[in-house]
Amino acid sequence: MKVAVLGAAGGIGQALSLLLKTQLPAGCELSLFDIAPVTPGVAVDLSHIPTDVNVKGYSKDYLAPALKDADVVLIPAGVPRKPGMDRADLFNVNAGVVKTLAEEIVQQCPNAMVGIITNPVNTTVAIVAEVFKKAGTYNPKRLFGVTTLDVIRAETFVAEKKGLNPAEITVPVIGGHSGTTILPLLSQVEGVSFSDDEIEQLTHRIQNAGTEVVEAKAGGGSATLSMGQAAARFCLSLVRAMKGENVVEYAYVEGDGEHATFFAQPLKLGKEGVEELLSIGSLSAYEQKALEDMLDTLKGDIQKGVEFVQG
Ligand code: NAD
Ligand code: LMR
Repeated sequence: MKVAVLGAAGGIGQALSLLLKTQLPAGCELSLFDIAPVTPGVAVDLSHIPTDVNVKGYSKDYLAPALKDADVVLIPAGVPRKPGMDRADLFNVNAGVVKTLAEEIVQQCPNAMVGIITNPVNTTVAIVAEVFKKAGTYNPKRLFGVTTLDVIRAETFVAEKKGLNPAEITVPVIGGHSGTTILPLLSQVEGVSFSDDEIEQLTHRIQNAGTEVVEAKAGGGSATLSMGQAAARFCLSLVRAMKGENVVEYAYVEGDGEHATFFAQPLKLGKEGVEELLSIGSLSAYEQKALEDMLDTLKGDIQKGVEFVQG
């Protein structure tokens, strides 16, 4: 199994690559690409860790060999936010970055599972889908916006608030990956009940957790370490599923279109990617209203991505 990380020399890329070097199954190949010239050095550095995962690093003009025959591609390439910016403000730079990378995926590994981390995820996933459609290689079961960070944050914050072990908490988070499009379903957390105030506070904190990190880093970027952990969890789940295990994860995918073309929801993963779209279950009145209120924003974000490629 070959796993490629594009943007591998960045904050997320390095954390993610370290976790994959230490946790991918024996025999896997880890292929690191970044435009930064340090990338082959990052690979050499990781290669001294004694695991049976072979690491290769590529930079500049070597995107093609980095991607050649990859089974999984993870994309954290692009610029992060600074205080005062929305994720949508990253569109001008990052839309072009993911489009270029997607065009090479079409050439080198058209059947790969592709996980998009680059923001604005609500839009960049639509861009990649359009590039794949143009090339005739689009398979909606194999393209994911990685929203695992919203899930692990929700689990952490709920556990913190209720004095519980985060490892024992599961919190569904649906919708998209920015502001009000991030919708935690606190009514579905088993064995825990919340007051109206707690629901309001926790929902707000989960929706603004990215901004919490951006402000705390004060101009030094956005979440990298927690995102590295989240992306590693998603990738390792995907790899387990591709090897035949039954795995459920949340991700932003093209589903049945009931709410929007792309929507984060629970998925049963399997050898071919999304094996089954699982139901989001029943929502409280608060969650139902939040879902209805977010849809115009989410659909607008998706449309922006479609138009970027279609012109
Ligand atoms: P970073 O600046 O530390 O790293 C980005 C890397 O991308 C850099 O090493 C840069 O050289 C590389 N890069 C830029 N253009 C490239 C190209 N065309 N090809 C290959 N590599 C390229 O940023 P970061 O903190 O790692 O964040 C990366 C992206 O991930 C940002 O867009 C950020 O908003 C996003 N992000 C998403 C989530 C999520 O939950 N999905 C969470 C955190 C951050
Ligand atoms: C996050 O949720 O931390 C990321 O999307 C980065 C950001 O800009 O908030």
